[in-house]
Amino acid sequence: MELSKRVLAVKPSVTLAIAAKAKEMKAQGIDVISLSAGEPDFDTPSFIKDASVEALQKGFTKYTPVPGTIELRQAICRKLKRDQGLDFTPDQIVVGTGAKHAIFNVLFALLNPGDEVIIPSPFWLSYPEMVTVLGGTNVFIQTDEKTSFKITAPMLEKVLNPRSKVLILNSPSNPTGAVYTKEELLALCKVLHKHPHVMVLSDEIYEKLIFDGLKHVSIASLDPEIAKRTIVVNGHSKAYAMTGWRLGYAAMPDKALAKAVESIQSHSTSNPVSFTQPGGVVALDKGDAEAVKMLTVFQKRRDFFISLLKTVPSFKPFKPSGAFYLFVDIQATGLSAFDVAKKLLEEVHVAVIPCEPFGSVHHIRMSFATSEKDIEAAVQRIAAWAKKQTVPA
Ligand SMILES: Cc1ncc(COP(=O)(O)O)c(C=O)c1O
Repeated sequence: MELSKRVLAVKPSVTLAIAAKAKEMKAQGIDVISLSAGEPDFDTPSFIKDASVEALQKGFTKYTPVPGTIELRQAICRKLKRDQGLDFTPDQIVVGTGAKHAIFNVLFALLNPGDEVIIPSPFWLSYPEMVTVLGGTNVFIQTDEKTSFKITAPMLEKVLNPRSKVLILNSPSNPTGAVYTKEELLALCKVLHKHPHVMVLSDEIYEKLIFDGLKHVSIASLDPEIAKRTIVVNGHSKAYAMTGWRLGYAAMPDKALAKAVESIQSHSTSNPVSFTQPGGVVALDKGDAEAVKMLTVFQKRRDFFISLLKTVPSFKPFKPSGAFYLFVDIQATGLSAFDVAKKLLEEVHVAVIPCEPFGSVHHIRMSFATSEKDIEAAVQRIAAWAKKQTVPA
């Protein structure tokens, strides 16, 4: 059997390999603590579930319109107006089976072979794989702690050229938790003005998870000209603890693009699952109070986790302003991120994510979407492990 060249270019997921190994160890009765979760550990709020259970029982079990029900797309338009001040109509919205699916379909609709997609690094590992499978070219902008893992206007200016097609922005970021301010985004807008052929894909999936009273800003809300070429992506997974529901969407500036994305979806997965959609409406209309409660817990855990990690001098966390991950510099261990992750799992049974596939060999990602008890126990194990390591000269 010969696999397609496109698929052969895609790297298998290291993240999944670690998760599979952790699962296997758990099945053998080993007490593994997982800090690898990419999803809230809370249950979906019950009033959201109730809406979908009711729909299911009333027989809402058939195909819906491909881009999602009109009710859900109207709720998304209300949300984008309320939270970001953005004006969209339902025919500019396509709901997919998760934001991941929505991003894939948008890139599918936009990319021609050789088109460059600009990705600030570190990045969510799926972006470059999607670009590769779709025949585009990844152009990374490497960031570090000096700019709090954010790109600046001069960094962006340097990579833009006539082949540049899409800039992907992800604020708050997975894996760093970096959050762009209004001023930083305005500076990027200034550069983008000089390159009118460049589209922006703004992945705002962690929007509701921003700490210390900071506010989420969508680049689409800052500048009408940039808004005309920005696709806003968001979803229910992280904000309302609905990862398994698979609801995510793209809001497109151009109806022709929305039609193209709908058309791709119509030939692959069709509509998002019918009975998740009424729950999705309720989540957007009434879920924010629950999202705030979860945020409060996440912020407390973040601070607790950072304070505990002071006992492990070779692990240096970047304090995230959003999402639920600690992005931890492990250079002082003298090991690669993958080796640290492998050793922690095998030697002290703590699962973390090595960030090589996220664009950094020097970092691991530790999720705090888990209990304080587990965080504390995990750090104790890591501290004991780190004490035994001898750092190469
Ligand atoms: C940055 C980012 N974007 C998009 C997604 C996709 O989320 P979903 O497909 O569950 O909506 C994730 C999930 O981990 C993510 O971290």
